[in-house]
Amino acid sequence: MTVNRMILNETSYFGKGAIKEVATEAKKRGFKKALVVTDKGLIKFEVATKVTAVLDEAGLAYEIYDDIVPNPTIEDVQRGVKAAKTAGADYIVAIGGGSSIDTAKAIGVIITNPEFEDVLSLEGVADTKNPALPILAVPTTSGTAAEVTINYVITDKANSRKFVCVDSHDIPVVAFIDSDMMMGMPKGLCASTGMDALTHAIEGYITKGAWEMTDMLHIKAIEIVANSLRDSVEGKQAAREEMALGQYIAGMGFSNVGLGLVHGMAHPLSAWYNTPHGVACAALLPLIMDYNKEYTGEKYRDIAVKFGIEGAETMALSAVRDAAVQAVKQLGIDVGIPQHLAELGMKEADIAKIAEDAYRDVCTPGNPRDTSVEEIIALYKSML
Ligand SMILES: NC(=O)c1ccc[n+]([C@@H]2O[C@H](COP(=O)([O-])OP(=O)(O)OC[C@H]3O[C@@H](n4cnc5c(N)ncnc54)[C@H](O)[C@@H]3O)[C@@H](O)[C@H]2O)c1
Ligand SMILES: [Fe+2]
Repeated sequence: MTVNRMILNETSYFGKGAIKEVATEAKKRGFKKALVVTDKGLIKFEVATKVTAVLDEAGLAYEIYDDIVPNPTIEDVQRGVKAAKTAGADYIVAIGGGSSIDTAKAIGVIITNPEFEDVLSLEGVADTKNPALPILAVPTTSGTAAEVTINYVITDKANSRKFVCVDSHDIPVVAFIDSDMMMGMPKGLCASTGMDALTHAIEGYITKGAWEMTDMLHIKAIEIVANSLRDSVEGKQAAREEMALGQYIAGMGFSNVGLGLVHGMAHPLSAWYNTPHGVACAALLPLIMDYNKEYTGEKYRDIAVKFGIEGAETMALSAVRDAAVQAVKQLGIDVGIPQHLAELGMKEADIAKIAEDAYRDVCTPGNPRDTSVEEIIALYKSML
C-alpha cells in the first residue's frame, strides 16, 4: 500500500466572530509581541483593523508590516524579515489573502532558518531545519487556503518568475476562518478567489497523488463552490460563509497531494503580467479540464453530479466529461471571468518563453496527463 502523508494546521476556528479567538490563542501560547503582516488596502478598508482591535482590547503588543502587494516579491519578504527582527516579534499574525499569508510564511521560515535569507533557495522542497516563527492566520479572501497549506508562492521579479515553496515548517499553527473578514470583498475578487478554490478542488481531485481522504475533501469543496459561489459573488452572507469553509476544505486536500497544469500555467501569467492568481486559474481551468478529460476515470462524472447536471449518474462517460467541463466554464462566465488570455495582457510573442516556465513549475508534474512545452504552447495559443 502506498504511504500517504497528511499535514494540517494545529487548530482552526470557523464562523462569524472567530477572530476573537486570536487573543485567546496568543495568550494561551504565551506569545509576547506580534508582527502583523497585512496590506495597506486591508488597513484602509478597516478589515485588518478588526483583528488589531482584538489585540488592543486584550492588551497584546504588536507592530504592523503592511507593505504586502498582490504577487509578493523576494524583496517584500526580506523587508518583512527586517521588520520582524526590529519589532522583536515572537509570532506573526497574518491578515489577508494568499499574498499576506504567503509572505508571512516566508518571513517566519527565514527568521528561524536564517541560512535561507536569500529567499530563492526556499524554492521547491527546501531542507529547513526549524518550524517557522508561529503564525496565526486570518484569511480575508475565500480562495487560496494559505492558512492550512504547506505552500507559499513568491515572485522573483528579476527573472519574471513565480516560484512555489513547499515546506511543512511553514504551516500556520492556528487559522481563524471568519466570514466577517470576507464580507467586504468586491465582486471581482470574490469571483476570482472562489474560482481559485474550485481550481484547487478539481486539480487536487484528479492529480496523480489523489487518494481516498483527499478525494473526500475535494469533492466536498467542489459541491460547496458549485452551490455557493454565484450567491457569494452577489454578497449573500450565508454563501460567503459556505465559501469560507469550502476553500479551507480544498486546502486541506490539495496541500497534501499537489495540483496540476492549471496552476503550472497560471503562475507565469502572474509573473509576466501581474495577473491576479485567481483570475489566471479561473480562465485556464475549463481549457485544462478539457485537455485532461481522458485521464480522469469517472471523476468528471462526480464533478458533474455536484454541479447538478441532470442525468449525470447514467450519462455516457464522454458526454458527462464534456458536461462537467461546460458547467465549470459556465460558472466562470456567470461570475465574470475573462475568457481570453489577451484580456490578461498576454502577447503571442511571449508564449514560447512562458510555456517553458509553465512546464518547469512545481505544480505541473502533478497533472494527470503528462505534457510538453509544445503542448503548453498550443494550449496558450488556443485561448489567446
Ligand atoms: N499558499 C498557498 O497554498 C496558495 C494557494 C493559492 C494561491 N496562493 C497565492 O496567493 C496569492 C493570491 O492571494 P489572494 O487571491 O487571496 O489575493 P491577494 O492576497 O493577492 O489580495 C488581492 C487584493 O485583494 C484585497 N483584499 C483581500 N481581502 C479583501 C477583503 N476582505 N476586502 C477587500 N479587499 C480585500 C487585497 O488588499 C489585495 O489588494 C497569489 O500570490 C497566489 O500565488 C497561495
Ligand atoms: Fe491557487
